[in-house]
Amino acid sequence: MGSLLNTNILLGVTGGIAAYKTPDLVRKLKAKGANVRVVLTQSAKEFVSPLSLQAVSGNSVSDDLLDPAAEAAMGHIELAKWADLLIIAPATANTIAKLAHGLADDLLTTLVLATTAPVHIAPAMNQQMWHATATQDNLAILGRRGVTIIAPDQGEQACGDVGPGRMPEPQDIADRLDELPAQGLLQGVKVVITAGPTREHIDPVRYMSNHSSGKMGYAVASAAQQMGASVVLVSGPVNLPPPSGVTVQKVTTAEEMLAAVMAETQDCDIFIGCAAVADYRPSQVVDQKIKKSNTELTLTFVKNPDILTSVAALPRPPFTVGFAAETQNVAQYAKDKLARKKLDLIAANDVSRQDIGFNSEQNALTLYWANGEKQLDKASKSQIAMQLMASITQQYHQKKQ
Ligand code: C5P
Repeated sequence: MGSLLNTNILLGVTGGIAAYKTPDLVRKLKAKGANVRVVLTQSAKEFVSPLSLQAVSGNSVSDDLLDPAAEAAMGHIELAKWADLLIIAPATANTIAKLAHGLADDLLTTLVLATTAPVHIAPAMNQQMWHATATQDNLAILGRRGVTIIAPDQGEQACGDVGPGRMPEPQDIADRLDELPAQGLLQGVKVVITAGPTREHIDPVRYMSNHSSGKMGYAVASAAQQMGASVVLVSGPVNLPPPSGVTVQKVTTAEEMLAAVMAETQDCDIFIGCAAVADYRPSQVVDQKIKKSNTELTLTFVKNPDILTSVAALPRPPFTVGFAAETQNVAQYAKDKLARKKLDLIAANDVSRQDIGFNSEQNALTLYWANGEKQLDKASKSQIAMQLMASITQQYHQKKQ
């Protein structure tokens, strides 16, 4: 998508062996059109020369919070404000621990606290240190704060161990960052998203539902919000905190979800149906609790309205995106659904896989639209959501032209 064009990237380098790759990372980021400034920790200077980084970035390199010369050129608060994106690569276990605890004892950790830009970290360390509970706990804390973790590669390490802990290649990191949705690309655009399951009442105490956690829809709402969109999330019952800056409308049944969606899509630009809407609801909701009497109980069901189809059938439909959770013939079923439901784009996931999808922290999707497709490889749901929003935005703007 090329979202790094003209982006101000602050690259923080900490003291790990992988720091030798950072001049190449600067070159790869600059090749994407980014402006790059580098901040080094003291120990990083043992692994890579500030002069090399200065030469490749074309900017002076900062390494000291208390450097009058650096502060005169660009003070640390100005530097924090200058950044559109902060990436720490490699991020050592020590720096990760400091960030998790909010320390600010050097220029880099101070900048992380002082910036409002999204923060990405590419941890690199010995595999045992990566697996250490303390490291994993610290990463979980950072993840909850919205820091994006670029997972290390597996392989042979400088120390001779084999396992996860290698910093991904500079080209991979640059490609990953370049696929991020550019901030502001959805300024003035209203996006309505459904998420989670619906619950269909059987009697006053019972309902029928499914295992949808709502995580994917909430991540998509957050990604759209970060791109500047005004976001309304129509959510079934889930145990998730509302994403910041997003208007959440809580609903329970498919019919309530349809009503909320139809009211919100009258003036919306993009609609994304992530919810696992129950296809059927009991024909009657009985007023009193059904008593245990016969050995068998028969319930009859009627079909619920298809929310996505209803939106796509509006006289002036928004750019409409659906999901296709399939267990077989994923590509074919998804393409059929794209045409049948008159969608602009469909995101297919293979729910027969145990490692992704429903109730998992990770997902992998294949996107299909009228004349193209794109594979989003397995990653955290927030990363997949960012990449999905990047593709939706690109197709939305193309359709509008
Ligand atoms: O046809 P199927 O249920 O597999 O389609 C899935 C897509 O349709 C999802 O995007 C889901 O949110 C949407 N959907 C809907 N209303 C329904 C059923 C599914 O919006 N009643």
